[in-house]
Amino acid sequence: MDCGLPVGVFDSGVGGLTVAKEIMSRLPGERILYYGDTARVPYGSKSKETVTEYSRQITKFLISQGVKVVVVACNTASALAVDTMRKEFDLPIIDVVEPGARTAAGVTRNGSIGVIGTEGTIRSGMYNKHIYNISPELNVFGKACPLFVPLVEEGWIYDSVTREVARRYLGEFRGKDVDSLVLGCTHYPLLSNLIRDVVQEVLGGGVTLVNPAVETAKCLKQLLTERGELNSSPEVPEHRFYVSDGAEKFRSFANSILPCNVIETKNVAIKTFE
Ligand code: DGL
Repeated sequence: MDCGLPVGVFDSGVGGLTVAKEIMSRLPGERILYYGDTARVPYGSKSKETVTEYSRQITKFLISQGVKVVVVACNTASALAVDTMRKEFDLPIIDVVEPGARTAAGVTRNGSIGVIGTEGTIRSGMYNKHIYNISPELNVFGKACPLFVPLVEEGWIYDSVTREVARRYLGEFRGKDVDSLVLGCTHYPLLSNLIRDVVQEVLGGGVTLVNPAVETAKCLKQLLTERGELNSSPEVPEHRFYVSDGAEKFRSFANSILPCNVIETKNVAIKTFE
């Protein structure tokens, strides 16, 4: 496979940009082709069948654009759809849950891990499954935090309302003695400063936040290196961004968090990729 081909990355919306950002910093030669399914966000409250169908359509679109690998930069799609996608598609597919689980299992000192994510991710039990596979002695406590996604999409990243919501959600971990907390939704790293503050307030010090995006980017680098497909060109890559709705809003959000200048975001009618 030509190492100059782009890396396909997708999410239900802007959250996957936190993964794209890590990829840009660790694999600076790679060209990213990002799809944000902004018309159908959130995925977190939808069924496995629906999320799988949406993920299938987006993967078909990314393949039609000639990507060499697909990074599922959405925990919900990783938890609900990736097993099916790997059976259906003939190219490497990287998810965010397995790398996140591996990091959490490596980081915990007392064996008690908290996971926050969407309803779909927490209900799927995929973090628990991967963490128990690594070590059955570890304890995993999950908590769905569905309000975080719309608060991030609204840009209320340092807002007092978001802080109060975080107090309620994270207060559920009191008495569980968690020493590591997985940000099991790609939107949550955008709230990491606020979450860190609130964790300190309601659970005390010594809790490490785990951002699965970091390990996911490392996984991608390893995979591309093993396959001889890593693009180490010194040229600055031209990333491309596609959405299913609200291209301009997405573009300005992307510019607020990415290290590159997003000049254009295009709408793509994803339903045509059946
Ligand atoms: N980005 C999604 C995830 O990581 C959350 C947003 C949604 O519910 O679609 O699970």
